[in-house]
Amino acid sequence: MNILCIGAGYVGGPTMAMIARKCPAVKVTVVDINADRIAQWQSGSLPIYEPGLKAVVDECLNRNLFFSTDVDREIAAADMIFVSVNTPTKTFGQGAGRAADLQYWEKTARQILANSTSDKIVVEKSTLPVRTAAAMQRILDSGGGTVKFEVLSNPEFLAEGTAIADLENPDRVLIGGHDTEAGRKAVGALVDIYAHWVPRERILTTNVWSAELSKLAANAFLAQRVSSINALSALCEATEADIGEVARAIGMDSRIGPRFLNASVGFGGSCFKKDILNLVYLCESYGLSESAAYWQQVVSMNDWQQDRFVRNMVGRMFNTVSGKRIALFGFAFKKDTGDTRESPAIRVARQLVEERAEVVITDPKALSNAAQDLNNLGDRVTYEPDPYAAAQGAHAIALMTEWDCYAELDYQRIYAAMMKPAFVFDGRNRLDQQALFNIGFNVYGMGKSALSNI
Ligand code: UDX
Ligand code: UDX
Repeated sequence: MNILCIGAGYVGGPTMAMIARKCPAVKVTVVDINADRIAQWQSGSLPIYEPGLKAVVDECLNRNLFFSTDVDREIAAADMIFVSVNTPTKTFGQGAGRAADLQYWEKTARQILANSTSDKIVVEKSTLPVRTAAAMQRILDSGGGTVKFEVLSNPEFLAEGTAIADLENPDRVLIGGHDTEAGRKAVGALVDIYAHWVPRERILTTNVWSAELSKLAANAFLAQRVSSINALSALCEATEADIGEVARAIGMDSRIGPRFLNASVGFGGSCFKKDILNLVYLCESYGLSESAAYWQQVVSMNDWQQDRFVRNMVGRMFNTVSGKRIALFGFAFKKDTGDTRESPAIRVARQLVEERAEVVITDPKALSNAAQDLNNLGDRVTYEPDPYAAAQGAHAIALMTEWDCYAELDYQRIYAAMMKPAFVFDGRNRLDQQALFNIGFNVYGMGKSALSNI
């Protein structure tokens, strides 16, 4: 069997590498229009940082895992085609700022149609608005030829930083297909791929629309938990309740559960905001304005939390950060990835620059992405791989990403090198705040009482 994946990004690359590893008899090819990206995958120096990924790619590369830019030829040769191209939020026209931009998606559908001379199963891997599969099916059926296409929805639930573990041992695999003979056969073929390593009871099959909506719904629920705990973090700061204690107390209720209750400067990543805005737009399109407003608030709360973080920094530092050096520890949207898409650090850095602070950014994996995100700020931001050098002469440190390395630094040494009074704003509650306070820092966590030496 020949499997093809169109789109060699954070989703397509790791997912196909895992299929290649677990199904040695299947030939897996990944194509992308970005030739640099493909060259990097081929060279073994991967275009994304993901723990454990390199070992999987090294094991399979040129055995049954191949990367190519020849999209047309690979489409012709494939039996099953995963589509994992990006579907960013529209920046223009109807639905700008909320709806998904489906131009790459439709272009890909037309390219599949143009290059197919044998029947294909087409698998939506990208997260898409509900009923996109129907649109794709109509485009594929518009050729009038004898080639048959069956469209399935198989959304990916991996999280960055833990992608390999998530792919190896998923909570569930979700496959949506049509309840027709051809649909059931196509679903069966995809189930057989995953069944090489995923227990059958964890492979769920649904109709296509349920699979599409479940992906949006899962991300909306996860983001909603973060916004809920962040809403409470503001109340904790005002009342001397402690968000860690509250999260522990509610998380021990088995109906609530302990995960995804870490208060933070806000959620980031390529999916949460985009998918919720998509859901909001869909609700509005069906005239469901209350449902739309409900989900919109999850995003609004997240924006507010980031703005609140900066307001708190400025307020605590005597209402001015102008001319002050501020070190951002971490820029990735979460630890163990170099990905900075929608990272709260972007908004925080921009606002600090507007306040005329001198911002210096350090991150173990995300500095080049950070420089791209902030390139229009020019030399008002500097990039420094060494956290000790970043903190040298700084008035404040703001922890933006919960990288383990930042919890392990010598803060006595850092304190000695900083301006006084020295401030720490722990946007992830990842540092030993009491120990920092004992050193002499003024420490402000999320949903924590201020630990102030002044
Ligand atoms: C992203 C989102 O995270 C996911 O939710 C969405 O559903 C699909 O897009 P990701 O893999 O993280 O997934 O995106 P990205 O790393 O941007 O990869 C997409 C790849 O598709 C890029 O490498 C891009 O060059 C490629 N692409 C895009 C094509 O090959 N052809 C196109 O026409 C458009
Ligand atoms: C998410 C989903 O988890 C995954 O299933 C889907 O396929 C893609 O979107 P990802 O964005 O890679 O994955 O990371 P995730 O671990 O979900 O974190 C998202 C954001 O929420 C990060 O910025 C993270 O720091 C933040 N977060 C998460 C919190 O602020 N607090 C928490 O308790 C958990």
